[in-house]
Amino acid sequence: MSEQQIVKIPAFSLKRQNLELRAALRECFLNVVDQSQFILGNHVSALEKKIAAWCGVNHGVGVGNGSDALYLALQALGITPGDEVITTPFTFFATAGAISRVGAKPVFVDIEKTTWNMNPMKLKAAITKGTKAIIPVHLYGCPANMSEIMLVASTHDLKVVEDSAQALGAKFKEMSVGSWGDAGCVSFFPTKVLGAFGDGGMVVTNDSELASRISRLRLHGSRIKYHHDEIGSNSRLDELQAAILHLKSEYSEQWTERRRSIADLYGRLFGEYANQLGIRLPVEPAGTYHVYHQYTIAIAYRDRLHQYLTDCGIGSAIYYPVPLHLQPVYSSLGYSHGDFPEAEAASRQVLSLPMFPELTDEEVNVVVAAVVRGCKESLIGMDN
Ligand SMILES: Cc1ncc(COP(=O)(O)O)c(C=O)c1O
Repeated sequence: MSEQQIVKIPAFSLKRQNLELRAALRECFLNVVDQSQFILGNHVSALEKKIAAWCGVNHGVGVGNGSDALYLALQALGITPGDEVITTPFTFFATAGAISRVGAKPVFVDIEKTTWNMNPMKLKAAITKGTKAIIPVHLYGCPANMSEIMLVASTHDLKVVEDSAQALGAKFKEMSVGSWGDAGCVSFFPTKVLGAFGDGGMVVTNDSELASRISRLRLHGSRIKYHHDEIGSNSRLDELQAAILHLKSEYSEQWTERRRSIADLYGRLFGEYANQLGIRLPVEPAGTYHVYHQYTIAIAYRDRLHQYLTDCGIGSAIYYPVPLHLQPVYSSLGYSHGDFPEAEAASRQVLSLPMFPELTDEEVNVVVAAVVRGCKESLIGMDN
């Protein structure tokens, strides 16, 4: 076996972090077991307060996962069948899925080439009489241009639900993502910047009526036990997950800073190679605080590089290979190839490199060296 094949660097791993936190996690588990209050106990309410404060808003409502956070936020804002909700085609399916689940129609606008986030300049043309809301996504941890998006929303009296699933702690112009719109939706999926040991999510908002409606909707529309005012869901954040998240949240700032320094190191190591090899590096627009949920590059010969890294034992991932307007389930929306050129190019070119706080500088060096080697080999392969 060659030296290259021995190197094993995962795209993401929790093993080192969990080992470090082992004793504290054990205590945390046992604490919940001893209290034996598994649904909506004091850990959930403590976490709701903590995340809300962190996002700079007054309320947090813990729900089953990030997908339900989006769905419940739309439902609580009164989005119903026949309405249109504008979002980006370059995101995880849950963003558009939530729109469809409330019976509304997803309407896509193309993304910016550099940030891969919704292009606010494209919004106006997509607004119709049926438009009720916009869902910007802070993809990979990079804040969308919230001041421009909020300007369009307020001009046209539209609700804004931020999909902050990948960007807890990120800021746009000093304000946390999730605090710009009517609601922000967080995912605690294990790979996220703050991850549970299973599914979890939260809606953050300054709107107390919205928060209490979501609190009811997560309990089958019930304010008082066994009395139901409307149809809701069973979508609560588990007490055990909340306890783990609360413990892990103590490290969030330090972990985010480490992600940022890894991103900085990647950028410095790629340096001149980026231009020479046609690698587009992630950007951090002025006035934003990127949390680098992913360190994503774009490259024309992405699939060759992806395969090369896999052969070297280096993990990398494609988020996302098919833009949402081209997903079979949305064929009825009537979109076709070429409708959103930037989203389509991104889905052919993006590649996320290893990124997690416990990744060492040495490993980052190994990854960059392999990417550079892989690019050179790919380019030679294309000449032949
Ligand atoms: C952009 C985006 N939105 C929504 C979600 C849904 O979150 P969850 O997996 O917690 O349901 C995710 C999770 O992957 C996501 O990345």
